[in-house]
Parts: sequence; structure tokens; C-alpha cells
Amino acid sequence: MKKLFVATSLITLGLFMLFSCGPKEPTDLTQTSFIPQPVSIESLGDEFILSSSVTIYYEENVDGLEQTARYLADELNHIAGEIFTVESSNVTPRSGIFLSVTTDNNDLGKEGYFLSIGKKLVGIKAKSTAGCFYAAKTFLQTLPVKAAAGEKLTVPTGIIRDFPEYEYRGAMLDVSRHFFGVDDVKRFIDFLATYKMNALHLHLSDDQGWRIEIKSWPKLTEIGGSTEVGGGKGGFYTQKQYSEIVKYALERHITIVPEIDMPGHTNAALASYAELNCDGKATELYTGTEVGFSTLCTGKEITYQFVDDVVREIASLTPGPWFHIGGDESHVTAHDDYVYFINRVQEIVTKHGKKVIGWDEIANADLVEGATVQFWADVENTTMGIEKGAKVIMSPAARAYMDMKYDSTTHLGLHWAGYIEVDHGYDWNPATLNEIITRENILGVEAPLWTETITNMDEIEYMVFPQLPGYAEIGWTSSELRNWDEYKLRLADHGKRFEAMEIDFYRSERVPWGE
Ligand code: ACM
Repeated sequence: MKKLFVATSLITLGLFMLFSCGPKEPTDLTQTSFIPQPVSIESLGDEFILSSSVTIYYEENVDGLEQTARYLADELNHIAGEIFTVESSNVTPRSGIFLSVTTDNNDLGKEGYFLSIGKKLVGIKAKSTAGCFYAAKTFLQTLPVKAAAGEKLTVPTGIIRDFPEYEYRGAMLDVSRHFFGVDDVKRFIDFLATYKMNALHLHLSDDQGWRIEIKSWPKLTEIGGSTEVGGGKGGFYTQKQYSEIVKYALERHITIVPEIDMPGHTNAALASYAELNCDGKATELYTGTEVGFSTLCTGKEITYQFVDDVVREIASLTPGPWFHIGGDESHVTAHDDYVYFINRVQEIVTKHGKKVIGWDEIANADLVEGATVQFWADVENTTMGIEKGAKVIMSPAARAYMDMKYDSTTHLGLHWAGYIEVDHGYDWNPATLNEIITRENILGVEAPLWTETITNMDEIEYMVFPQLPGYAEIGWTSSELRNWDEYKLRLADHGKRFEAMEIDFYRSERVPWGE
């Protein structure tokens, strides 16, 4: 009898909790765990109900805006399991979601946005389609990645004003040490897009593999693309596949930055064409992980014909402004030869209409106007680059290399630049990391993933999550609005999102993931 009373009381208490203080209605927009953290969030304390009766409108005649509206609809279809309608409109509708561009003289910059979530209308306003895309991404973070069947989807009302700190917010994927197919690259692009990154640097060639079809030099892929670290079968992108990647990225406002690493890191090319070697003999293919042993023959004219053809073909498939010439760790190229080579290659890149990016060693050459130095290791090189007028992309290996192990027990990755736990990866400011590289010199931030030890998508995910959202936030959110103790709570909430995206991530003990 007593037991029954206790049971009944518990049931009553349970029902009471369910109806009175059960799952709290999400009425405070400031409580949403956004990554990257927006510049300002104001809560209006009410709610917008998302159902398939909500139409997504876009302003007519704005380049790419219909595509962004359809992208948002596809994402909402996936979340809600319903079909959302997309229509154009030239006036602000009374209800629904409305994407429009503004010419107002506001301080949002070219990628910033306003997102106003009212009871009936969600207004997205930006100076560019890219800004509208980022607003849509912010809006999507107010919703689950996938709703449960019958789940009522509500969004807290409020106003967000937001813009990025840095113009360049990127990640790099090394597809040379191990090759990753088009579907893997697309999934990687989706990760970047989720967190408002706007550049994917593809490391397309190295000692172990040449990964992009060059029609005028077909043996690069026939021979140079035929293996990878460990002796696997390697692979390469046809030009058609590369263009498919470029298009997929562009639809998500991500620029592909192609890298052909030279004059070192070139064994795959040297094995494919004997004439690129000073002794006229092709090298053996290489499947190990040493660096610094290969060089193109800088004194031969055929080398520059080769570079010209490669740059010309890739540049013609790449709408983005940049071409990355590598330039790192050319340990067997004499200094003067290196400088001569980098100077000539910069002219070639410029001739084909692209701006030069190179690892920090390229600062030893005369930099062309508009060149960018990617700081990974050497402050002196980077300083020299700044003195020669270059901008800097910040990728300090000890903070931003996603292939560094989290700690000594991590089964993947390397640790030559140290271990990078999640707090160490997040808790730094590009503009104060050292005295000479200051805010005005910095174009942005990039987190590279080298793949000597990484062989498949699950392994990519394990090294990239949860680091990538942190690097995205470093690029987007000003350092005054960032601190680890607060960020780790938002990151913990994103653990559920990673699970829903079926991302195999590292559950760092420094993050309070919850259940
Ligand atoms: C590099 O990590 N060799 C740029």
C-alpha cells in the first residue's frame, strides 16, 4: 500500500514536472549555443514556429540569392522532414522567411548580416549573398540537426547583428599523402560551411602523390597519382571532378585555394617526368613520410614550361583569386636557386591572373604585389614577408595544425609541433601571438590537416572535430568576445550536433559534453 502511494506520488510528480517545468520553451535567443559567436544578440522573448507552411522568400534579381534560399530550404527539409516552398518577392512579406540584400550604409562589411527573428517573419538582410548565407547558417543553429518525428520546432525571437573579424577563414586538406575522393571533400566542405569558413586550401601535390589531372602533362596523374603513403593505390581528380568540387564549394561561399607545392615536395612529378630532374632521370615513386629530399631542377627552362602549363590549366578551372605555390621545406634546393625559382613562379601565377600564396619560406624571394605569406613555422620569414608588403595567413603549427595529436594517447596524427588539446587549439589570438605579426598584417586564419597518418573520413573527422569549430570562431569572432571557459559550454552543446551529423569526434575531457 505504501509502495503504491509512493509510486503514484512519483507519477504525479513526474506529470507535474512534465507540464509545469518540463523542457523549457526556447524563448531566450541569447541562450542558444552559436559557433562562431555572433557580434551581438538581442532577445525578444517570444517564439517563431517553424512548420512547412512557412515559405522562404528571396529578393528577385540578386545574384545567387535564389540558390541560397533553396539551400536553406533543403536544410530545413532535412531537419523537419517536410517540404518548404521557395518563392521570389519584391516586397517584405508579412510572414515566412525573407532573404534580401541591402545597400544601406551600415557597418556589416561584405560578409556581415542582420538576422531578425520575429513571431511571424524571419528577416535576413546583408550586403551580399554570402552574408545572407551566413545568416541562414546562424538561423539553422537555432534548430536541431534533425527533428524527432512530430517534434514542434520553435525558434526564440530576437535580433542578431554579425560580421567576421577576418576576411580569410580557412582549412587545408592534404589530399596528397593520402587521397580522398570527391564525396569526402564535399563532406569536408560541408563542415567548413557549417561554421562560416570561406576557404578550402587543397594541397594537391607532394612527394607521395599528384592529385589533379593536367592535360598537357598526363603522366603526372598516370604515374604520380598512382600511389600514396603506405603504398595504397592513391588517386586523382579529373578536371571535371575538380570543377565539381569548386562548384560545390562556391554554392557554400567557399573559395578553393589550389596548392601545387614546389620546388620541393615534388617527387611525384619528378617520378612522372625524367626531364624535370637535373640529371634527366626519373626518380622512384615515394610512399614514406620523410620531407625535404626532392626539388624541381630550377636551372632548366622545361621546368618553367611545366609550371606554366600546370598553373594555366588549374587557374582556368579556379574562379577564386588565389594560387598557392607551396615553397616549404625545399632543403635540397640551393638558396639562390630557390629565390630565382620562386620569383619566376610568382610571375607565372600573376600572368595567369591569380594572387600568390606560399608557405612562410617564400618571403626569402622578392614578393609580388598582393602576395600572401602563410605563417606556419618561422617568425623571421614571416616578418620579412611583412616588410616586403605581404599579408599573412596565420597557421602556426603549434596551435592550428589539426594533424597534431590531442595528447600522447591519440592514436592518429603527429606531434612534432606539440600536442594540441582543444583548449590550446582555441585559446590564442592571431593578432597577439607574436609582437611583429599584428592585426593589420593578417588576412586571416587557416587550420591545415596533413594526412601522413590519416587514411579515411572517420580519421579525418576524429582529428578535425572538435577543433574545426574553434578555428572557425577564431577567424570569425573578435578576441574580445571569446574566452575558453564560455566557449567550452557552447562546444559541449555542439557535441549533439556532431552526433546527429554522424561525425566521429574526439571527446576531450576538457569539454563538459554531458550525456
Ligand atoms: C608545412 O607544414 N611543411 C607547411
